[in-house]
Order: sequence, then C-alpha cells, then structure tokens
Amino acid sequence: MRYKETSDLEISLLLEAIYRKYGYDFRQYSQAHIRRRIMSRMVMSGFEDISEMQSTVLNDESFAATLLQDLSITVTEMFRDQSFYKSLRENVIPILKTYPFIKIWHAGCATGQEAYSMAIILQEEGLYDRSIIYATDFNQNALNHAKEGIYSTSLIKEYTTNYQLSGGKESFSNYYTSNYDNVIMNQSLKKNIVWANHNLVTDSVFAEVNLILCRNVLIYFDRELQNNVQTLFYNSLINGGILCLGAKESLRFSDVYEKYTEWDPRQRIFKKKY
Ligand SMILES: C[S@@+](CC[C@H](N)C(=O)[O-])C[C@H]1O[C@@H](n2cnc3c(N)ncnc32)[C@H](O)[C@@H]1O
Repeated sequence: MRYKETSDLEISLLLEAIYRKYGYDFRQYSQAHIRRRIMSRMVMSGFEDISEMQSTVLNDESFAATLLQDLSITVTEMFRDQSFYKSLRENVIPILKTYPFIKIWHAGCATGQEAYSMAIILQEEGLYDRSIIYATDFNQNALNHAKEGIYSTSLIKEYTTNYQLSGGKESFSNYYTSNYDNVIMNQSLKKNIVWANHNLVTDSVFAEVNLILCRNVLIYFDRELQNNVQTLFYNSLINGGILCLGAKESLRFSDVYEKYTEWDPRQRIFKKKY
C-alpha cells in the first residue's frame, strides 16, 4: 500500500480533534516525534490517509486509546543513568537530610521504576519514613503497572547492574520477591508512594515540593511547552528545592533559567535560588 505525503496541517487537525474530543493535548509536542508515531500507527492499522484515521479516532474510543498509548513513550529502567543516581546520592541527599519532611515529585514516572529507585535510595539513607513520593503520569495503563510494581525477571540482571554502578549499598534482591517469571517490589518501598494521574500540559502545580524529577519527558515537547512546564515546576518547588532533568534536556532556554543555580550541570541537576 502506498501512503500519500502527510502534511503538517493534516497532523495538526488530527491533534486538534484528539484534544477537542478527549482533552489530551499533543498540539505542542515535538513534530518529529508525533509524526513518527502517527505514521507508524497508520501503517499498522492499514489506514489510507490521515482523514480516515481522524474519523476513526473520533468514533472509536478503543482506537483512540491505542493512539494515546502510541503517543506516550514509556521506556524506562531502574537506576537509569547510573552517574545521575550517583550524583543524586552525593549532591542531593545531603540537602534532603536537612528537612524534617520531604516531598518528592516524579513527573512522567511511566511504569514506576524511577520512583522505586528513589524509594530504595531513601530507605538506604534513612529518609524514607519522613518522605512522600508523588509519582505522576498521564498514561493510566503505565500508572496501573507502576502501582503493581511487577516487572519481568528478564530485566533484573540489568537493573541489578544499574543499582550497583549507581552506588547501591545492599543486594538489589533485598528489594523484591521473585514469583515465576516476574518479581514484585517490596511493600515497604510502596508505602509512601502516591501514584496519581497528572497531565503536565493541562493540570496544575504540586505545592511545596523539595525535589522534582522529570527525566526524559520534556524531550517530546516543543520549546514553548517546555517553557510552560518549567514554570509549573518552578512554582511547585520550595526555595532551595532541586530539579532533575534527563541527560538530553535543558533549562537553559526557559524563562526561569536565571532563577536556578546549576547544582550538577553534567547531570542536569538544578537548585532553585532563595
Ligand atoms: C520516556 S518516559 C520517561 C520515564 C522516566 N521518567 C525515565 O526517565 O525513565 C516518558 C513518560 O512521560 C509521560 N508523559 C508524556 N507526556 C506527558 C504529559 N503531558 N503529562 C504527564 N506525563 C507525560 C509518558 O506517558 C511517559 O510515561
């Protein structure tokens, strides 16, 4: 089957339709990312063109749900980027130790591995009992998976290596129970994690947070949307609060850049000025 060239206009009309009908706003996501995902779904579903896809999105909620999943990339790992977690232990944990109560927000937590990695570090540092972790995403399927905390055994070798290289102090196997082909994360890690559906484009601030991690999410947004979300984070953090971005993400072009110090520039860790 041959596909005609899909114009930016057709894609923007499709995104407008998704927004008007379902309230999910992808209009300011990076064009290249959106185009790739839409074209791949078009091929998989055998549509002739975008207008056929658009009418299916509007009339078939299960297809719309499939497309929403396509547009949300949930690739993640435990202790993803070991050098980042090393820096977190060395440069951020000492700051957290100065607070009587710690609020952490993982924005775009996908299937939860990032939040469990944080819970493990907090436990090892003796901070978990005075912490609360808000782990949010707009993808409810990913959140359901995160809440269960069940991962394939085939991933555990890689997660264990990541944990060790990031400065882990125990045996990683202390943190889960094996069950046939899966492992389930310990209840003691889950107890202070609140999983919540939150859309960074349309929902509002979390107040008085000490630490925000939003890693590998903003790369999918255009410059203006990144800027809006950076303002949302700035307004959510306490003075002196810490913001952690992904390896390919930057604060530099945002309006709030001057209001932070670069705490560990290589690891994209920023501290909100007092
Ligand atoms: C590649 S994952 C990153 C997961 C994790 N932070 C990490 O670095 O491993 C990106 C996540 O961002 C979420 N996401 C994308 N747009 C979002 C939005 N507007 N609001 C909330 N989450 C969003 C996706 O659903 C996905 O789970």
